Amino acid sequence: MSEADAKGFRARGPGDLRILDDPGELGRAAADEMIRRGRSALAARGRFTVALSGGSTPMRMYEALVERAADGRDDDLWRDTWIFWGDERCVPPDDPRSNYRAARENLLRALPVREENVHRVPTESGEPDLVAREYGARIVALLDGPDPPPRFDLVLLGLGKDGHTASLFPGESTLRGGDRIVAATDAAHDGLYRVTLTPPVLNEARAVIFLVAGEEKADMLFEVLEEPRRSDPRPAQKIVPVRGELLWMVDRGAARRLASPDGPRPDERRRPR
Ligand code: 6PG
Repeated sequence: MSEADAKGFRARGPGDLRILDDPGELGRAAADEMIRRGRSALAARGRFTVALSGGSTPMRMYEALVERAADGRDDDLWRDTWIFWGDERCVPPDDPRSNYRAARENLLRALPVREENVHRVPTESGEPDLVAREYGARIVALLDGPDPPPRFDLVLLGLGKDGHTASLFPGESTLRGGDRIVAATDAAHDGLYRVTLTPPVLNEARAVIFLVAGEEKADMLFEVLEEPRRSDPRPAQKIVPVRGELLWMVDRGAARRLASPDGPRPDERRRPR
């Protein structure tokens, strides 16, 4: 019996939690959520602005979106979807490690998203800090409504085993507030400097969805969602939308330690207590 089972449910972190049976079902459910929120944004504001995450977890969602796009039923949505990135590695756009390249190859190539609405991080424009400033300026120019900081309709995020999200890493200056909406990491991670949206702009989003899959994430997901906050919270715990929704979509493997004694049903939606 896991530690959580022995003690039953603890106070949960903020947001809704949906537990899906496996990575494939997680991907399909996430695709449905993205489309639903996109249609709502399109109806309300005539466009859908979304910041994609990097990493491997979104790939199953991309597969589901590409499959669904085959019959053209969502072409009207994609034509007015503006694509951004929550973070990017400081590599050229055609580098295999680029988050932009991953999305282009696995998703955008199959959707009628207009080229002029794809706003990748301009990693070729110089040093990481300069890249961050330029991307931040572009986001303000493109999204700036009456209430800065800019608001994305949807931000997709992943969770690292160390609690990082986007490229917000433990102990880095990107977590220490300030008015920057995009910043460069203090150090290289896996050999690469990165550029990331910061908590102030992430927390302004109308909706933030974390996608987490795999048993290797179970310990960190348990800490982030159920353990009492540490004095130095994990980066993912800094993401609490100030006037938007927060949804954790996880598979059973990642939710392994969240199970109550009777075990969560797949696709269970639990409100925080
Ligand atoms: C990146 C991501 C990063 C990712 C997590 C989870 O650029 O790598 O933005 O934050 O979402 O590391 O990665 P996986 O989905 O591959 O587990």
